[in-house]
Amino acid sequence: MKMDNFHLTVVFGILMWGCCSARVVKVSPGPLIRVEGQPVSIRCDVYEYSGPREQDFEWMMSRDTSAVRLKIISTFDNSYSHPSLSKRVASGDISVARLEDNKVELKIAEVKSLDAGLYWCQTPSTDSVISGNYEAQVQLIVIPNTLSVSPQTLPQEVPEGSDITLSCNVTRVLTHPTYLSVTWLLKTATTSEEILTFGPQGGVTTGAKFARRYADGGIRLVPGKNGVFELVISRVMTSNDGTYECNGTEWTHENENGGKWIKIVESTKEMGTVKVIPTGQSLSVKTTSSSPSPLLSPGDTLTLLCSVGASNLQALALEVTWLAGDRDIITMERSGVVISNTSSSTVQGKRGEASLERTGAGEYRLSVRGVGEEDGGEYTCRVRAFIDKGGKSAGGGGRWHMAAEKKSSAVTVKVSQIKPNFTLTLEPTLNPLMTAEPTELACLVSNIAHLPLGGRLGVTWEYTTLPGAGGGPQTSHHIGSLDGNGNLLPGSTYSDRLKSGALSLTRVQPNTFKLRILRTQEIDMGQYSCTVSAWSASSHGDLVKTTEYKSSAVTVRWDTKRPTLNVMAKRIREASVGGATFEMSCIVSLENLGEAGYSVLIQSQESLESNVRTIMTLSPDNVLQHGGATDPNRRDSLVLAKSGPAEFRFRLAGVQLSDRGFYWCDITAWTKQQPGQTWTRATSAESNKVRIDFQENGPSFSIAIHSDDTSVYPSTTAKMECSLSVSGSSPKTDDLAYEVRWFFTRLRGGQTTNQVASVDRFGVVKAEARNSSSEISVERRDTHSYLLNIFGTQDSDSGEYFCVATPWYLSASTGAWTQAGELTSSRVFLTVQFAVWDSLQLPLLYGASASLGVGLFSLVLGLICAQCCCRNTAHTPRSRNKLMDLEMD
Ligand SMILES: *[C@@H]1O[C@H](CO)[C@@H](O)[C@H](O)[C@H]1NC(C)=O
Ligand SMILES: *[C@@H]1O[C@H](CO)[C@@H](O)[C@H](O)[C@H]1NC(C)=O
Ligand SMILES: *[C@@H]1O[C@H](CO)[C@@H](O)[C@H](O)[C@H]1NC(C)=O
Ligand SMILES: *[C@@H]1O[C@H](CO)[C@@H](O)[C@H](O)[C@H]1NC(C)=O
Ligand SMILES: *[C@@H]1O[C@H](CO)[C@@H](O)[C@H](O)[C@H]1NC(C)=O
Repeated sequence: MKMDNFHLTVVFGILMWGCCSARVVKVSPGPLIRVEGQPVSIRCDVYEYSGPREQDFEWMMSRDTSAVRLKIISTFDNSYSHPSLSKRVASGDISVARLEDNKVELKIAEVKSLDAGLYWCQTPSTDSVISGNYEAQVQLIVIPNTLSVSPQTLPQEVPEGSDITLSCNVTRVLTHPTYLSVTWLLKTATTSEEILTFGPQGGVTTGAKFARRYADGGIRLVPGKNGVFELVISRVMTSNDGTYECNGTEWTHENENGGKWIKIVESTKEMGTVKVIPTGQSLSVKTTSSSPSPLLSPGDTLTLLCSVGASNLQALALEVTWLAGDRDIITMERSGVVISNTSSSTVQGKRGEASLERTGAGEYRLSVRGVGEEDGGEYTCRVRAFIDKGGKSAGGGGRWHMAAEKKSSAVTVKVSQIKPNFTLTLEPTLNPLMTAEPTELACLVSNIAHLPLGGRLGVTWEYTTLPGAGGGPQTSHHIGSLDGNGNLLPGSTYSDRLKSGALSLTRVQPNTFKLRILRTQEIDMGQYSCTVSAWSASSHGDLVKTTEYKSSAVTVRWDTKRPTLNVMAKRIREASVGGATFEMSCIVSLENLGEAGYSVLIQSQESLESNVRTIMTLSPDNVLQHGGATDPNRRDSLVLAKSGPAEFRFRLAGVQLSDRGFYWCDITAWTKQQPGQTWTRATSAESNKVRIDFQENGPSFSIAIHSDDTSVYPSTTAKMECSLSVSGSSPKTDDLAYEVRWFFTRLRGGQTTNQVASVDRFGVVKAEARNSSSEISVERRDTHSYLLNIFGTQDSDSGEYFCVATPWYLSASTGAWTQAGELTSSRVFLTVQFAVWDSLQLPLLYGASASLGVGLFSLVLGLICAQCCCRNTAHTPRSRNKLMDLEMD
């Protein structure tokens, strides 16, 4: 434009030179609005002139239109200035500068309000012909400096990624049409960069380095009210460090050459030096466990919290990862999408299932449900902080950049089965003092801790032999156990006793176990201990033994003394007369033996020297038996019964003379190891003897045997009469009966004595079978005499005869049939004569035989006589049968 003007001027000058030039002096059309104290320059051009190329200029002014003109300065006259201005000219405050031959500029370094007025630029004529205008006028308006720039002070430190607002109040008092612009600048040590300028025409221009950011929206202008302009820089980065400035400028628009913006005053203020704190510096990652000591049991839920702190937390996009050891478990991505790495775990089932959620600002909760022992270890939380740089990346998403990455310190998590804990006390509740007494041991579980819900207790009982028992080393045996489900598992050596109930293992309360031996044997002496196990439900639902504790041992032993039995017999009812009832009681006292059963033998003997008979027996199982010696007719009269725990009664009704003698109990104690087993003999004892002794106060009897002829011929009849006589209080014949038996001792063929015949007290006759061909009959002659007839005597009938009688009478005192003592007669010798006269019938033998027969006869007679004299007549044949001996063994 300048060049064009110049060419035009030259063209015009040449044209003028030639013919008709008319001078043009030009200043800016004005009015010029300037600010007091600011420099002012007013240009003045001259065209279309003739004469020298270099023109002179003179400047004048007047404060108002009516006032006189004051000369200000001239390009050729140093003394041109009016005295009121000469000082300012001399100081250079007012000066004129030549720009070109035809262009000058009036300069006022600091314009004063007084300087306001009309200004003239005048050129002295160098033209040959005065033509055109030689001066031009412009108005200068001087306004006070009302521009105010007051920025808001910036914070000294700003976290990376956050926004900073550059707020600046730029105002001026509007008296003339002036315009404002505001510029923000960033000054670093080396450079000063324009960020953005707003105004003066309402447009925005950006500095080269910030153009992109502005285009992306990372920098935005907030038009202010009351002169406040705000520039917001989003997501600051460390490169945004520096000193921020606010520049307010006041402009005027001049209508020269189609308009021109003139800066009339400006003011720049520092807003403050900002330091952008990098995210890494403020980012903190902490892990906290929900429990003070993360000690977990399998199946529990592990909960860990990752707390992320940062001064610019809201500006950050976080990627949170939980690591167990080096292993990524789970990640929450920037976008909030959670990616779990547990599902890809090869050892599935052993690890818990992880989940991650955001529970608050910067709070990320990790939950691992159903932890396994594999889940134990160090847990760390890793955080990657991203900042959106704004704008769009090529991929379409935000342009993220990772500002920082940080890991928390590790939290150690322990997953282990917390074993239940308890105290065991084993104590005897029943302690045997002797064999066959019960033993009871109670195994008490107390102070149970950590037994999980649904946990159970089981018990195992063990027996150990006493030290030194049997000389060998101590041996232990498993008695039996109750498992978590309460099943009884017997030990092999104890299974029979456990099955029979002789030994029992029970749980009496949830926490008490008992061992009970019904009848403790000597082999049971030893040390007992219980081992209590805790059972927990496994993940599969079945019970698994988790721990066990063994009690101290309890010794079961007692002084082994031989069991002793003492039996005392006592007369309860005395039989002082025949037919009365005798009763005795036997009281048993047992020592050194627990529970026992008894067998009883009632025994008797006539005198202390005579044989012992067993009357009746009672087995420990209460089976009653009669002894073989007992008359079956009399069994109803005999009673033996248990009358107390340790007492037995024996009763004998209708006592007879034959019952006299000594009576006692022979008692044996028996034990059973267990019910159902056979009895084992422990010990036995005999009681003292109780005597049945009464005097016959009834009649007294005597017996005699008689034969009219004791020497008979063969085939004749021999008679022997057994006569009884009664004396004393003789009963009536109806109240009297005898039982009579005849006995025979043969002359030849041994000394055996055999019963020949008998008649009982009811008159029933019984003849015994004999070898002889003779016949026998018994004849009751009267009440008191019984005749034995031997018909057809033979040689074999020769021998000794006697009779035995038992009288029975009706006792006047008791009214019962009473047996009197047995009576035995003397003996009678019967001789069946040799048949001499038969031999005489044989003529040949007659003479010789006669002398031999007589001789032989006298020899036999002599022998018989000798035998009769030497025989022990006191000899009584034994009639007693041996009683069956009932020994129980
Ligand atoms: C801006 O400054 C001017 C002059 O100092 C004042 O009148 C105005 O209230 C200020 N604006 C604000 C928002 O402070
Ligand atoms: C203030 O802004 C104006 C207009 O943009 C510019 O000409 C001037 O140089 C700036 N002043 C400073 C000190 O940067
Ligand atoms: C899962 O964990 C394994 C082992 O630590 C690791 O190599 C892998 O990168 C992880 N995967 C994910 C998606 O984190
Ligand atoms: C079990 O309990 C006892 C007593 O309460 C205690 O001294 C002991 O340390 C506990 N043992 C365990 C493994 O907890
Ligand atoms: C009969 O005689 C035989 C042989 O001499 C003898 O064994 C038997 O005991 C006798 N019988 C009687 C009843 O005497």
